[in-house]
Amino acid sequence: MKTIILAGGSGTRLWPLSRDNFPKQFLKLKNMDKSIFQMSFERCLKLTGLDEIYIITNINYKFWVLGQIEELGYKFNEGHILVEPSGKNTLPAIYYAIVEIHKSGADIVAVFPSDHLIEDDDELTRVIKQGEQLAGDYIITFGVHPGTPHTGYGYIRPKEPLTIGYAVEEFKEKPDLQTAQVYVEKGYLWNSGMFMFKTDVFIEEVRQHCPEVYNAFQLSDINEVYNKTISISIDYGIMEKSGRAAVIPVDIKWSDLGSFDAFYEEFPGDENGNIAFHEVTLINSDNNLLYTDQDKAVAVIGAEDLIVVDEKDALLICKKGYSEKVKDVVNKLKSNN
Ligand code: GDD
Ligand code: MG
Repeated sequence: MKTIILAGGSGTRLWPLSRDNFPKQFLKLKNMDKSIFQMSFERCLKLTGLDEIYIITNINYKFWVLGQIEELGYKFNEGHILVEPSGKNTLPAIYYAIVEIHKSGADIVAVFPSDHLIEDDDELTRVIKQGEQLAGDYIITFGVHPGTPHTGYGYIRPKEPLTIGYAVEEFKEKPDLQTAQVYVEKGYLWNSGMFMFKTDVFIEEVRQHCPEVYNAFQLSDINEVYNKTISISIDYGIMEKSGRAAVIPVDIKWSDLGSFDAFYEEFPGDENGNIAFHEVTLINSDNNLLYTDQDKAVAVIGAEDLIVVDEKDALLICKKGYSEKVKDVVNKLKSNN
């Protein structure tokens, strides 16, 4: 078995904590001693040896990848860091690694994003190991029970049971809110964004369902491959189309730290629902997320449902419920510069 970590996303929805040159996967949140990338790396080590891990990223983040692995006390084989010439979303990224791994023969591969907080690694490891028996026939996803009708996730409707988990009846990536509400009521699962399959099964599914990616990877030069391939996620490109999808439910505390609203849900608040990462004087204020600077006295009066992120060179003030729109701010700032 091999493991793959996707570490090329820019995490724009966590601006200004997350920046182009320092995306969220490498961030150490104020009360944690490891970044979520480092936690993903240690998760992989529970499944495979050091030399069986592959990391797909871009040239700007390679330095972070190497530095943060070294900080964990490991010397990593640089040949296992695959550098993409440009970001073309998760399907080309995963396929790049799969083609490399498949060169030494078909093997089972587990794919992990690097933007998840998972609290029960041991349970996840146990389920993944069990799931290996399906990997020769299926593209397996690990499903989590949905909390809210979140529109940023993929939704999965399980069909008949398999030896472990279920065949997938329907996979729908990022539905609108109304559809998501119906899905939650009908008992769909969230796609956790972690996958497992055998390399030859995946290559065949990409050939069938996404020939634009398959054909691009027939070229030998990786720059040409990336010029030619379309930009598409594994969810739209394969999971929504494949007749070989399976889902294994996992009962773990899981969160994609995708936005500040998700972030708020992740940390315990005080008795008024306020989460402050440094001391803040609060008067008549409820349910706020306050990520402020420790060198500054901060006071909040009469505020409800606010997200405040104060960094040295940037300040975000956002109403809770709107934080998915932070990426629009980043796009706007980029187009102004
Ligand atoms: N190397 C590389 N190149 N990595 C990438 C790229 C890329 O172009 N784009 C994204 N990634 C990495 C991100 O860093 C992240 O770790 C992972 O791939 C997933 O990408 P996201 O952009 O965060 O996806 P998402 O959160 O919108 O949606 C996916 O995850 C959800 C669960 O967290 C989907 O799989 C959803 O169906 C799923 O519910
Ligand atoms: Mg994500």
